[in-house]
Amino acid sequence: MNMIAAVDNNWAIGCQNSLLVHIPRDQKQFREMTEGKIIVVGRKTLNTFPQKQPLKNRMNIILSRDRQYRVRDAIVIHSIDELLEELKKYDDKQVYVAGGASIYEQLLPYCDTVYITKIDYAYQADAYFPRLDRLSDWELAQESEEQTYFDLTYYFQKYVRKC
Ligand SMILES: NC(=O)c1ccc[n+]([C@@H]2O[C@H](COP(=O)([O-])OP(=O)(O)OC[C@H]3O[C@@H](n4cnc5c(N)ncnc54)[C@H](OP(=O)(O)O)[C@@H]3O)[C@@H](O)[C@H]2O)c1
Repeated sequence: MNMIAAVDNNWAIGCQNSLLVHIPRDQKQFREMTEGKIIVVGRKTLNTFPQKQPLKNRMNIILSRDRQYRVRDAIVIHSIDELLEELKKYDDKQVYVAGGASIYEQLLPYCDTVYITKIDYAYQADAYFPRLDRLSDWELAQESEEQTYFDLTYYFQKYVRKC
């Protein structure tokens, strides 16, 4: 199973239920990597999507503990155990965990590949990704050339779980 996230220098991912920054090329890469696949997000992250709706052209699995909660065109799941059971139906290479902080933290143990957009800036933030560069069972396997968006510098990175 994969994860995908955009993080800053402190591995921050969000502030007040919003992304830290919108980088068009990063959004394009996210779309290209996840279209036709399965994304798993927490209920709060769904609320950051356009019109608070599931993303088009891919299967959306939303985690919420609220058993009354319904989302049109998405599957709502109520626990990690229930999620793991649901995901048995799919090839785990097709599954992308896409946030937010609580979902990244709980599902990292089940993932073997993490796609990080590393933004060279330190934002004010209140949501974080686990610091993969300090976890001994993860290694940086690939890094793109330097990318720029106005005065921002960022890199596309791929972390893999060590065998
Ligand atoms: N930079 C990035 O790549 C990126 C990507 C995604 C999100 N984000 C940011 O991350 C932040 C949101 O993160 P967050 O941690 O506050 O929220 P979140 O992880 O998106 O959603 C949390 C919600 O998920 C549900 N949930 C969590 N664990 C669950 C479990 N074990 N079983 C069932 N439901 C569960 C709960 O919903 P209920 O309350 O309904 O029970 C919980 O309130 C925002 O700032 C967002 O912009 C950043």
